[in-house]
Amino acid sequence: MKATVRAHTNIALIKYWGKRDENLFLPTNSSLSITLDRFYTETTVHFDHCLSEDVFWLNHVQADQKETKKIRAFLNKVRDLTGEVRSARVESVNHVPTASGFASSASGFAALAGATVKASGVTLSERELSQIARQGSGSACRSIFGGFVEWQKGIATDGSDSYAVQLLDQKAWDLRILAIEVSTEAKKVLSREGMKRTVATSPFYQGWLKATEVDLVTAKKAIAQRSFTLLGETLESNALKMHATTLGADPPFMYWQSSTLIVMETVQALRDKGLEAYFTIDAGPNVKVICKPEVEQKLINELSRLDVVKHIYPCQIGPGLCYLEG
Ligand code: DP6
Repeated sequence: MKATVRAHTNIALIKYWGKRDENLFLPTNSSLSITLDRFYTETTVHFDHCLSEDVFWLNHVQADQKETKKIRAFLNKVRDLTGEVRSARVESVNHVPTASGFASSASGFAALAGATVKASGVTLSERELSQIARQGSGSACRSIFGGFVEWQKGIATDGSDSYAVQLLDQKAWDLRILAIEVSTEAKKVLSREGMKRTVATSPFYQGWLKATEVDLVTAKKAIAQRSFTLLGETLESNALKMHATTLGADPPFMYWQSSTLIVMETVQALRDKGLEAYFTIDAGPNVKVICKPEVEQKLINELSRLDVVKHIYPCQIGPGLCYLEG
């Protein structure tokens, strides 16, 4: 049996930063994201009794042992659940600028979860799929859904109440996201390692947990009221607080480069001049800027003047999993 699925990346407005269980990918805090239309992964899973082991092709090239091992471990989790016994050929194509740190693991594991389950001939709810995708990469559980999505952290030790839910669908609130590339270098501290180190060593971590709970409530209120200013202020401050925890880690680390700061300062300065936009940053130097449709072009014009900006990818809010032919 064979299935092909497309899943889109998402960016967190309230960040997931820290795990309470590394095996099950259970987070210490709930998070909130928007799914992006522009960046996605398409994955085909083909269970084939002629194969003696799983094989993984990424962007038309056979992946190395390390990458294949990660995919195999994930497939094993799904096989345990669905009773599938055959090995699989997995082919993934990322329509995400991978080298530049625009998270492809979220779209990658969401597409893999969808295609693996479908190719096993099993039907699961989106909530169940979200729980499976979570066990490949935490943020992937949010990419099962389009629009505005909350990952509810849950409290159960088996992860049964840790999944994503959709808050608003793709068309409910038209906001624009500019993904600003300032660097294409691979990051030095991967998000998985970064959050682990922060939880274990940063004295600011407890403060983060307290503050992010409040930010989540505020962000949900802003979304329900379609209050862009309240949402923007909350998401920008939440990103800054996440990054502050890394400065307190041992050894300390920082995802920003000087170019990141220039973009952040410019967004704030433009805002002071009446061009309303807010930034957020994940585990890398690139910046995402959120705005309303009416200021998008003006913002692109202003930001593209900066020497440090290599590329601007304008994005809109995107859909959830999409099952493709073939
Ligand atoms: C900063 O989902 O990539 O982008 O669960 O270890 O695979 P793992 O981590 P991952 O972390 C994402 C961290 C973040 C914030 C977010 O997307 O919420």
